[in-house]
Amino acid sequence: MVIFSQKGAIIAHMSSGEFVSQCTADSLARVAQLLKDGGLVALPTETVYGLGADATNSSAVARIYKVKGRPADHPLIVHIYSMQSLGDWADEIPSYAISLARDFWPGPMTLVLKRSILAEDFVTGGQPTVGLRVPDHAVALALLSAFEKIGGQGIAAPSANRFGHVSPTTAQAVQEELGDYLSDTDLVLDGGPSLVGVESTIIDCTGELPRILRPGAITFEMIEEVTELKVSKSLDKNSDDFKQEGIRVSGSLENHYAPKAKVFLDQQPVDGSGFIALESINTPDGVIRLAAPESVQEFARVLYSALREGDHQGLSSIYIDQPSGDGLAIAIRDRLSRSAKGR
Ligand code: TXA
Ligand code: MG
Repeated sequence: MVIFSQKGAIIAHMSSGEFVSQCTADSLARVAQLLKDGGLVALPTETVYGLGADATNSSAVARIYKVKGRPADHPLIVHIYSMQSLGDWADEIPSYAISLARDFWPGPMTLVLKRSILAEDFVTGGQPTVGLRVPDHAVALALLSAFEKIGGQGIAAPSANRFGHVSPTTAQAVQEELGDYLSDTDLVLDGGPSLVGVESTIIDCTGELPRILRPGAITFEMIEEVTELKVSKSLDKNSDDFKQEGIRVSGSLENHYAPKAKVFLDQQPVDGSGFIALESINTPDGVIRLAAPESVQEFARVLYSALREGDHQGLSSIYIDQPSGDGLAIAIRDRLSRSAKGR
């Protein structure tokens, strides 16, 4: 593990493949202790990078909101080492939620459950529920385990970007987003590029039936197969249900996931603009190809870094041909429709 300072933040570089053998128990224990002392640690996950803090420390969690520039009433996801800790954070867990946890954790899925007394207002945004996730990434899991060993109970971590921006899928992107806002003692852990590339599926498990609040790599079909229940297929922000429950899913705001460039979907690109589409689609003349993924999975994985690349190149517009179909393509189109609304 190489550690170096850059713009005030310390970056711990760990190449994900070699992490377990190369990263000493000592260095991880140090990172865990930093969290316990109220520091912030940006950490890799399989979906996107998160900005972590001790989920039971109100001042540390308050710093997350400050660094992100995020309104304080938006709840955070609490990351835990294993489903054994579910009962510490949540009450009245329905059996279908246990089935989901068993099948898809560690993995790109967040369960929203009735909160226990451990989940305080400062982490739930004052809501009666808590979002929980076991991430599927060696570095994140090793850190969660080291944190548990010193009495830590969970790491609250939103995506490590400024509010409304594109989520980071590399440590470098975290540094770009938050480097100016982190303090000298905060850390960014480098676990390589995130393999999924879009944020976790969020499932509301407070009702009789599971309800998807944000689509992701755990798809409607997968949830229905495991729970043998009908999953409600769309989150209608204008429905009375939604308003009554006062659920706030910040990732469901209309203008989110937005790069600086203006995003256009499924339109003929103009000269000099950026272009993202599946490899099978030819690059129109005069445009700058930012990504040519071979599959929907690869599309999700490279999308956010391609949007960032467009910004690096100073492009004023990026044209995207959206992938069609179900599954992960639904999550991609969900994020793209929001990024097209602009900042
Ligand atoms: O993949 C992910 O979920 C990443 C990685 C870091 O785990 N995290 C992430 O966090 O995307 P964030 O905060 O950027 O988005 C989480 C979304 C927010 O829109 C938040 O409002 C919603 O989850 N959320 C969290 N707790 C909730 C709750 N109790 N009820 C409803 N929505 C909740
Ligand atoms: Mg986010």
